[in-house]
Formats: sequence, C-alpha cells, structure tokens
Amino acid sequence: MVNKRSHPQSVLITGATGGIGRALAVAYAQPGVRLVLQGRNADILAGVQQACEQVGAVVETVVFDLKDAEGWRQWLLAYCAQQPLDLVVVNAGVNINHGPDNAGEQWEQVQQLLAVNVSAVFATVHGVLPMMRARGQGQIALLSSLAAHRGLAVTPSYSASKAAVKVYGEGMRDWLAPQGIQVNVIMPGYVTSPMCEAMPGPKPFLWAAPKAAAHIKKRLAKNTPRISFPFPLNFGTWGLSVLHPSVSAWILRRLDYDG
Ligand SMILES: NC(=O)c1ccc[n+]([C@@H]2O[C@H](COP(=O)([O-])OP(=O)(O)OC[C@H]3O[C@@H](n4cnc5c(N)ncnc54)[C@H](OP(=O)(O)O)[C@@H]3O)[C@@H](O)[C@H]2O)c1
Repeated sequence: MVNKRSHPQSVLITGATGGIGRALAVAYAQPGVRLVLQGRNADILAGVQQACEQVGAVVETVVFDLKDAEGWRQWLLAYCAQQPLDLVVVNAGVNINHGPDNAGEQWEQVQQLLAVNVSAVFATVHGVLPMMRARGQGQIALLSSLAAHRGLAVTPSYSASKAAVKVYGEGMRDWLAPQGIQVNVIMPGYVTSPMCEAMPGPKPFLWAAPKAAAHIKKRLAKNTPRISFPFPLNFGTWGLSVLHPSVSAWILRRLDYDG
C-alpha cells in the first residue's frame, strides 16, 4: 500500500503562482500525482501547470482571490466532496511594510494581509478538514515564517499574522494527530521570491526556492512538526523569542532590523 504521507497522490497548493508555491508544485509533480494549484494570476498559473504536466502530473488550476475566505472554504468543501486530498499546503500569503517614507502600515493593507494570511489560512483548514476527518487521514502544511518567533519593527502585521499561523498549527496538530491527520508548521527564513525581493531589511542565509521546496517536501514526508530553516537563522530567531524584549530589541537594532 502507498504511504500517503511519503508519496501523496493528491496535493493542493495555494499560492502556486509565487516563488515557494511554484517550486513546491514542481517538486511534487510526477506521474500518478494530481495537483490542484491555486493562484490569482491566470497566466502565471497556466505556466506552472504546463511545467508540472510536462513531468507527468495531472493538474487542475483554480483562479481565486483568497480575500474571499468564506467563498474559498465553500469551494473547498464542494471540491473535497468529489475528490479527496492527501496533502494541502497552505502557502499563499502577502507582506506589507511601512513604505519607503516610513509613513507606517496602511490600514487597508493591514486588513487585506489579515484576510489572506490568517482568515484564508484558517478557512482552508476548515474547507478540507471534514473530508480528512471522514477518511481518518490527510496532511496539512501551514506556511508561517521565522518572523513569527519575534515581532519585527519592519513588518509588525506580517510577523503577527505568521505567529497566528504558527500557534494555530501547533494546536491543531495536537488535536488532530489522534484522528490520523498530520499538521505541520513551516517556518522559512529568506527564500528567493517576489515577496522576499520586496521585503525591506537584510536577508542573510537566503535560499533558492527549489532548495526550500525540496527541504519542505522531505520534512513533510517525515511529519516533522516544525519545519524551520535555515540553520543558524532558525536558532537565532528562536533565541530572540526567549530573551527579554529589551535585549532582543537591542540585538535587532544592531542587526539593522529596526525599520
Ligand atoms: N520568501 C520568503 O522569504 C518567505 C519567508 C518566510 C515565509 N514565507 C511565506 O511563504 C509563503 C509563500 O511566499 P512567497 O515568498 O512564495 O511569496 P510570493 O512569491 O509573493 O507568492 C505569494 C503567493 O500568494 C498568492 N496570493 C497573494 N495574495 C493572494 C490573494 N489575495 N488571493 C489569492 N492568492 C494570493 C500569490 O498569488 P498571485 O501572485 O497569483 O496573486 C502568490 O501565489 C507566504 O505565506 C510567505 O509568507 C516566505
């Protein structure tokens, strides 16, 4: 019998048009695998679909704006009633910052960030969970960030949204494990992508997206609870979270992360 975790045969990836999402789609694409790829940009999505079909995967695409979290949840419920999913990678996300003139995060942008990075993430889980619980199997991977360990002055709302995803994933993992469902929290450092390029501040230990995708795939197959990388950035950011806030603030200022 095929081990669904090591060899998922049906994989849904949100944000498949972005740097990490595209690399994950390509990493999972192979004969015998059905990929369901979500994005907003239809042209880019078609390019990712083509790349995955070329290596033998069966690909379905869905163009959807995840700011409509309830609409997305309903779409998933309907889809999963027809087609089960072995693995769901909740990857789509956005980042904002204070702007070039340091005007501060704009409220409209904050609301949109929370809609995509938090509401749509929880809605995705609620959209696929009834099917997974009925089957008693499935895996859900949630994209958090090393920025979740300690709020960053350059991106406070983003850090907070990723902390929400981290903590949610940890709680859901423990609740769902006895029911046969694995939940994993992924905490990347800097990975090449349009989002990463647009981010202010230094970007030490930058990984290429295909390298990050290969690492994530390997760790998901092992059901690693927290997939955080790269070392030593994961260790350093975790360390910041356990220091006194004034000490971690001093370190962050010294490292030029003071916004
Ligand atoms: N790259 C990094 O350094 C890094 C580090 C830590 C964590 N992460 C996390 O990794 C995930 C992927 O990031 P990335 O670096 O690959 O970013 P990216 O290249 O900017 O891709 C973001 C993806 O999210 C989708 N998306 C954004 N807003 C959407 C919306 N309203 N509705 C539907 N889809 C939407 C985009 O779709 P369209 O382009 O089609 O709109 C795109 O596919 C994110 O959750 C991010 O927070 C990234």
